Amino acid sequence: MGLPKDFLWGGATAANQAEGGMLEGGRGLTNTDLMPIGDDRKAIALGTLDNLERRSAYFYPSEEAIDMYHHYQEDIKLLAKMGLKVYRMSLSWTRIFPNGDDEIPNEEGLLFYEKILLELKKNGIEPLVTLAHFDVPVALIKKYGGWRDRRMVDAYVRYAKTVFTRYRELVHYWLTINEINILLHQPFVGGGLIFKEGDNIEQIKYQAAHHQLVASALATKIAHEINRNNLIGCMLAGGSHYPYTSRPEDYLEAIHRDNGEYFFIDVQARGYYPRYALKKFERENIVLSVETEDERILRENTVDFVSFSYYCSRTVSGFDEDYATTTGNLFKSIKNAYLPSTEWGWQIDPLGLRSSLNMLYNRYQKPLFIVENGLGANDLPDESGYVEDDYRIDYIRKHIEAFKDAVEIDGVELLGYTTWGILDVTAASTGQMSKRYGFIYVDRDDEGKGSLKRIPKKSYHWYKKVIASNGEVL
Ligand code: BG6
Repeated sequence: MGLPKDFLWGGATAANQAEGGMLEGGRGLTNTDLMPIGDDRKAIALGTLDNLERRSAYFYPSEEAIDMYHHYQEDIKLLAKMGLKVYRMSLSWTRIFPNGDDEIPNEEGLLFYEKILLELKKNGIEPLVTLAHFDVPVALIKKYGGWRDRRMVDAYVRYAKTVFTRYRELVHYWLTINEINILLHQPFVGGGLIFKEGDNIEQIKYQAAHHQLVASALATKIAHEINRNNLIGCMLAGGSHYPYTSRPEDYLEAIHRDNGEYFFIDVQARGYYPRYALKKFERENIVLSVETEDERILRENTVDFVSFSYYCSRTVSGFDEDYATTTGNLFKSIKNAYLPSTEWGWQIDPLGLRSSLNMLYNRYQKPLFIVENGLGANDLPDESGYVEDDYRIDYIRKHIEAFKDAVEIDGVELLGYTTWGILDVTAASTGQMSKRYGFIYVDRDDEGKGSLKRIPKKSYHWYKKVIASNGEVL
């Protein structure tokens, strides 16, 4: 019993929230660089506010983030001391192709990641690399309107091929697109989409989705050709939908809403468009422009494993009544009276992780990987900078117990677990630094002030023991 011996314990970050060095080393701008902290962030994320130029009135949290660009050696040492087996990171597309589709890749960018990957190797940490984590080059948004245009597929595939080749010996676990279903909820973040008046928004979103699905399948194909040992995963913003009551209408709504999110993974893991999606397109007059070979590309290049983020479950109803709602990862939900909430209103539901694992495993019969999970909290350090985050330990412990049960009792195949924001990074939704997830405190505030000093929290020492005992000591 217990978790498999080679279970991958780890932590995750993403380039746009950790690296900084926005214009250093020849890097070009990406979509999330242009998302300021404050009131306009939401409209920009939705693609309803066109904001493709940098403005001095705004503060852009990604510009410096936690400056991993200059701190990566120190950071990796801290991760190694924790005993991490795997580190999930993303590459910044525009560090390698500043305009997204340049003739020649930027050697300085390639070298930067090579150094990180070598450092990880030296420290015995397996990298899990996301190709695009909320990352659409601004030059391609200006040129093509982002993923609405088919030419994005070629640009993405060239970028993928370049890094698969360059890091052939250094990386074996890859994710193609982070939380691919975000495209439907925050189209600028997921696809660089900005809408004009009169645009058929649903049509544009699903066309962009088709391009991402084809690009992801082509990347999977190339990764396998370049190295047979490469394992490629898709990535879903997870969390199942619960019916608000046992009324049949609520249950049916929950099924429909799950389908709405799993749509992408259905294609990436099974290799074809599910019939409920084709019916939706028919009903809503969505006509996709598809090339002859697309069907075959999707069918022949399904992913090796299914990864997902899990922060909360969601509650829905088939009735349009006046419910109390709450925020959650990416989209709103009816407030579940049986669950506590974080300071940001995300509902805490460890057992929901076990249900999600069951649901995904039953649906796809492929190994799963939890690549994000954690508690965003406003940590209060003492004078020395130390944070006693028992609340975070409690949150993670309960989620680990839940996935262990999914593995040991329900028989789910699980490759690993990477907690989100292994060190504090800027928040994707709000841009805040004060929404902290890390086991390592980073001294920086919402205005970008602070020494950037890294200080292990209580949870750091706790997680180290969890890893060393393969999840037996919680
Ligand atoms: C996921 C993203 O949506 O959730 C991460 O993949 C993000 O990038 C995480 O940081 C937590 O969300 P937030 O908004 O609290 O940072």
